[in-house]
Amino acid sequence: MTVTIAVTQQKGGVAKTTTAIHLAAGLARAGRRTLLLDLDPQAPAAPGAGVQPPDGLIPLADAIAARVLADVIVPAPTPNLFVAPGDPGLEPESFAALPNRATALRLALGDLRGRFDAVVIDTPPTLDLVTLNAVMAADRAILPCDADAESVRSLGRTFRTVQTYLTHRPELDPAGFCRVVVTQVDARRKVLNDWLDDHLAPLGAAVYETRVHRSEAFPKARANGETVYDYAARHPAGTAPRAAREMGALTAEVLGDE
Ligand SMILES: Nc1ncnc2c1ncn2[C@@H]1O[C@H](COP(=O)(O)OP(=O)(O)O)[C@@H](O)[C@H]1O
Ligand SMILES: [Mg+2]
Repeated sequence: MTVTIAVTQQKGGVAKTTTAIHLAAGLARAGRRTLLLDLDPQAPAAPGAGVQPPDGLIPLADAIAARVLADVIVPAPTPNLFVAPGDPGLEPESFAALPNRATALRLALGDLRGRFDAVVIDTPPTLDLVTLNAVMAADRAILPCDADAESVRSLGRTFRTVQTYLTHRPELDPAGFCRVVVTQVDARRKVLNDWLDDHLAPLGAAVYETRVHRSEAFPKARANGETVYDYAARHPAGTAPRAAREMGALTAEVLGDE
C-alpha cells in the first residue's frame, strides 16, 4: 500500500519544501520507494533533490489532467527516490477546468498504485484548488511551523481549512490527519520557543517530537542541489550532521505513524 503525505502550510518560508525533500529522501534511504511530487509552480523540489528535469518533459498540470503521471517521473541521485518536477504553469485554474477538479491528483496518483511505497507532495503557500487536490490525494498532512506569529496564525488557518476539506473524505479520521513539525528552531530563543508551545497546544493537532533546528546546512545543501544527508557526509563539522540526524528522526517518526 502506498502512503501519501501532503506537506502544506499557507505561509511561505516555513520549510515546507525542505521538509518534503528530506522526508522523501529519508523514506527512500529507509528503503521505501518514494515519489516526491511538486505542486508548487516555483518548482523547487526537483533542483533541491538534485534532479535536472529533462527537456521536453510533459508539464505536470497536463500529466495530471491526462492521467499520465508515470511519464513525468524522474529518478533522483538518492536511491529509491523519484521526483515529479514542478511546473511553472500549474495553477488553481489548471484544476478548475477538469471534471474532477478536487480529485484530479488523487485519480492520477491512483494510476501509480503499487509502484511506490510513499508519495510526498510539496505544495505552494496557498489554500486553493492546488492544496485541495493535495489534501484529497493524501492519507495525512504535515504542517511545518516556526516560532513566528504569522507562521502560527497561518498554521491555524491551514489546519482549519484542511479540516474543512476532510468533510469530503468521511472515510478518514480527521483527528489524526494533520501533524505539526516545528522547524527552524533557535535553541537560544527560549521565551519564543515556549510561546510557540503555548500556541500549538490549543490547535489540537499532534506535534512531532522531533524539532528541526536552524542550520546553514539546509540552504547550502539546497544551493548545491543535494540533501543534507549527503551534504553532512562531506561536512562532518558544524551543524550539518545534526540537521541530517533531525530529518532522519522526523522520518522515523513518520514511519512510526504507519
Ligand atoms: N532548519 C532550517 N535552518 C535554516 N534554514 C532553513 C531551515 N529550513 C529551511 N530553511 C531555509 O529557509 C528557506 C525557506 O525554506 P523552504 O523549505 O523553501 O520553505 P517553504 O517551502 O515553506 O517556502 C530556504 O532557504 C531553506 O533552505
Ligand atoms: Mg516551498
